[in-house]
Amino acid sequence: MKKRTTYAGLINESYVDKEVTLKGWVQKRRDLGGVIFIDLRDREGFCQVVFNAQYIPEQMDEADQLRSEYVVEVTGTLKRRVAEQVNPKIPTGEFELLATELTVLAKSKTPPIYVEDSIETDEEVRLRNRFIDLRRPKMFNNIRLRHQVTQTIRQFLNNLDFIDVETPYLTKSTPEGARDYLVPTRNNAGHFFALPQSPQLFKQLLMGAGMDRYYQIVRCFRDEDLRGDRQPEFTQVDIETSFLTQAEIQEFTEDMLKAVAKAARGIEITEDFPVMTYQEAIDQYGSDKPDIRFEMKLVDLSDFAKTTDFGVFKGAVDNGGQVKAINLKGHADDYTRKTADELYNVVKPYGAKGLAWTKVSEDGFNGPIAKFFSSEEDYNYLTNALDAKVGDIIFFMADSTKVVADSLGALRLHLGSKHELYDPSQLAFLWVVDWPLLEYDEDNKRYVAMHHPFTSPQNSDISELSNNPADALANAYDIVLNGYEIGGGSIRIHTREMQEQMFDLLGFTKEEAYGQFGFLLDALDYGFPPHGGIALGLDRLVMILAQEPNIREVIAFPKTGRGLDLMSQAPSRVSNDQLRELNISVKESKK
Ligand code: AMO
Ligand code: AMP
Repeated sequence: MKKRTTYAGLINESYVDKEVTLKGWVQKRRDLGGVIFIDLRDREGFCQVVFNAQYIPEQMDEADQLRSEYVVEVTGTLKRRVAEQVNPKIPTGEFELLATELTVLAKSKTPPIYVEDSIETDEEVRLRNRFIDLRRPKMFNNIRLRHQVTQTIRQFLNNLDFIDVETPYLTKSTPEGARDYLVPTRNNAGHFFALPQSPQLFKQLLMGAGMDRYYQIVRCFRDEDLRGDRQPEFTQVDIETSFLTQAEIQEFTEDMLKAVAKAARGIEITEDFPVMTYQEAIDQYGSDKPDIRFEMKLVDLSDFAKTTDFGVFKGAVDNGGQVKAINLKGHADDYTRKTADELYNVVKPYGAKGLAWTKVSEDGFNGPIAKFFSSEEDYNYLTNALDAKVGDIIFFMADSTKVVADSLGALRLHLGSKHELYDPSQLAFLWVVDWPLLEYDEDNKRYVAMHHPFTSPQNSDISELSNNPADALANAYDIVLNGYEIGGGSIRIHTREMQEQMFDLLGFTKEEAYGQFGFLLDALDYGFPPHGGIALGLDRLVMILAQEPNIREVIAFPKTGRGLDLMSQAPSRVSNDQLRELNISVKESKK
């Protein structure tokens, strides 16, 4: 084997008239009457190779037998193409390699998917043949982008004297949060490790250990229902610090994300990221992770609705609910009565009982509910509140606060994307702060931690907290990008007294709390510094940077939507010997 001169995709001017050896895959072969052309592909791109009997007489038969995805080594002289044959679509389009030697390093069957970016192939087929799918330039670039992001983050944190510490993957199961993946062990029948949902407690203990600044780019495991932005195993950029304030943690995280935007996308962000409280986010965007690339805020019309004759509106407010609206500016003409009514399908999954709408025209409102708002006062009030002009279409929702926020929030996103109200390549970061500490779980009739049980309340008065848990705010912050939660963190509880109080509020008995978290409670007795941190969802961050709709596109070997690895066919059955050794018997379901 000869030494490779360079990557096919990196061929340039400087190699012209020199001997060049390339190695890679045959993308395509064309036979133009005795002269054979192949596009030779490697991870960096393509270079055209020409087999002409004049220069490679003994190997024309071999060249003729080349097929897509054969792996070859080709040596020849790099030539400039004649003007008519220049291909401006590829960076190496001005050149071609005039082959003098060919070695077939591996043959290939006809691949189950084409190695091309423009193909629309069923995702199952792609995932089953992931190694071929990853040959596609787009996939390689996504994986490399991920590498660039992690390198930028490592460099940034290393410069700030953070140290990378590994924490265990075989850990203790804790019932809070998502479901655990359990791992049996042969020496302790009936006992299980759990794979970590995050290294939360370990990173806090590292602060107790005096590490001061920790990070880890670490796999986390959650057996939860999957969506496009969720995988059962995913990667966090996990960070913890001692003695820093929330503002200081937000500041370096923000600088780090700016460095990432620059390195990954060449986008220079000079302004501070906007900051919004949780309440403002819900009120104005109907979401705790607003996409602020476009406006179309939710406007509260509850006071107005109380005074109208429209029973649906009045009734909702009388029942303690709300009436809110959004104004889709300038798109009234895009909707007929039928297509406007069809938007109900967007909000229905969120519990909405209807979707009212009206167009704004020269002579007042126009649509099924216009008759309820026919007075000049109503017209003036509503157009003023919603900054509405002729040609706008307004959508109203009357229901409980939650249903209104969820459905109008979803409708806002739907309309924003459908009518292209923003530049999809933009990066709109946002901090969401002042989160509620607790959330009431109606199903289990108890409070659960909104972030996690180790997050400190803003008011450190314990009696205030126990008397008024529902109103307590947390020292917690989320970082949002283009409508996705890409990270979250908090200042932690660092006294035993407060941590015990927190477990108490969450309905743990003293014994339960000690049984599960005794190692943390005990540690808090021995000089535990004030500390706090954050974790970024790396997969989501890279997905947005790559402008992909799904995190599977930025993970080399992801699971399907049903949590399966189609390539290796996991999870799978295991042998009876393995089960016996683990003291496990499997009950077959009766399906
Ligand atoms: P949290 O649970 O918010 O916080 O997770 C941090 C970030 O991880 C990402 N993420 C996911 N990404 C892909 N698939 C999933 N299933 C998934 N779940 C979460 C999100 C999220 O913002 N220990 C705390 C952090 C801390 O307090 O420091 C934690 O895990 O982008
Ligand atoms: P109805 O009086 O049920 O015929 O509804 C009149 C209009 O109000 C229809 O366009 C419904 O879709 C809409 N509507 C019904 N319930 C609600 C609601 N809770 N919020 C907003 N609009 C609603």
